[in-house]
Amino acid sequence: MPYMSLLKDFLGKVGEGYLLLDSEGRVLLANDFLLKRGLISQVSEEIAYYQCLKNLTAISCVAEALSEKRESYCQFSHEECEYALFAFPGGELCIVRITDVTEFKRYERSKRHFVANVSHELKTPLAVLQSILETLYDEEENPQKRNFLEKALRRVDELNRLVRDLLILTKLESGEERLRPERIGLCSLVEEVFELFESQASSMQVSMENKVPEGFSVFADPEKLFLLLKNLVDNGIKYNKVGGKLTISAYEDGRFSIISVEDSGIGIPKEHIPFVFERFYRVDDSRSRDLGGTGLGLSIVKHIALSHGGKVDLSSKEGEGSVFRVYLPLGG
Ligand SMILES: Nc1ncnc2c1ncn2[C@@H]1O[C@H](COP(=O)(O)OP(=O)(O)OP(=O)(O)O)[C@@H](O)[C@H]1O
Ligand SMILES: [Mg+2]
Repeated sequence: MPYMSLLKDFLGKVGEGYLLLDSEGRVLLANDFLLKRGLISQVSEEIAYYQCLKNLTAISCVAEALSEKRESYCQFSHEECEYALFAFPGGELCIVRITDVTEFKRYERSKRHFVANVSHELKTPLAVLQSILETLYDEEENPQKRNFLEKALRRVDELNRLVRDLLILTKLESGEERLRPERIGLCSLVEEVFELFESQASSMQVSMENKVPEGFSVFADPEKLFLLLKNLVDNGIKYNKVGGKLTISAYEDGRFSIISVEDSGIGIPKEHIPFVFERFYRVDDSRSRDLGGTGLGLSIVKHIALSHGGKVDLSSKEGEGSVFRVYLPLGG
């Protein structure tokens, strides 16, 4: 290839690893970064990627990209460093990029610790504040002062929820939260969640329908699954229209139990869909704040699904409604 030597020179100067493969997986080019970091052994002619790459996770990630002819991504550790690998197959070639993410991971961990510590430290003063305000409220007879105290108590309640959600999220993200999965009857769990939201739904005249087949079960941690459904149902009512509908159904596809939560609400504009699972992301800030939302609910949903080895996806149409699908491995 005429541009190969230019490419080789260029890739020799960049601070990340590049491996260029042909469609059979033979190495056409490997830059110095990979050798210096000990990620590959010396490359000789006609050598295949699995003969020179030293990490097994990296090898199976590249294998997946080549065999399924689609992009593949993984993270792995090697000699005290952490790396992210992205394999991009196309036509006759496959480009593999390996980036050092050690610093980024360290930063993420310290951010998580900071948030966890601050949230933890806030728990006790909030509990004290709440009990003082409750006592004052109970003893107060002046209606105007009672009104102030009621407002203050509502704010404390919001703060309590924020601290609770941040702590759950941090534990889920770090893998610290231990799951206790078991076989659960989904139909009755959905009924329990619906009972919790009865008055919220009726104040919006939203009808809730449980279409989970009788006897349908999933393998999951009951407490976490309850929390996941609670967040999706809360959103399905909160972001619905007056007189709207919320339906939960479930089915299996051979690999996953799929729980679908569908609403006929305001929907989510296309450009916001990729971000709604991020912490504190809200489509309409003022509307969500008025509704008492902090923007952590969907992040919790995502991490509960991930911690079960599953995932969540979302399809939505602005003005028409949304469908959240939770995939849980069949397991157990
Ligand atoms: N079913 C839905 N229909 C329309 N918009 C939704 C729906 N679910 C979530 N959203 C949008 O996504 C944003 C993020 O949702 P998320 O549940 O994470 O936060 P929240 O509901 O604002 O607060 P929290 O759940 O922490 O109380 C919401 O603010 C809302 O804009
Ligand atoms: Mg929510």
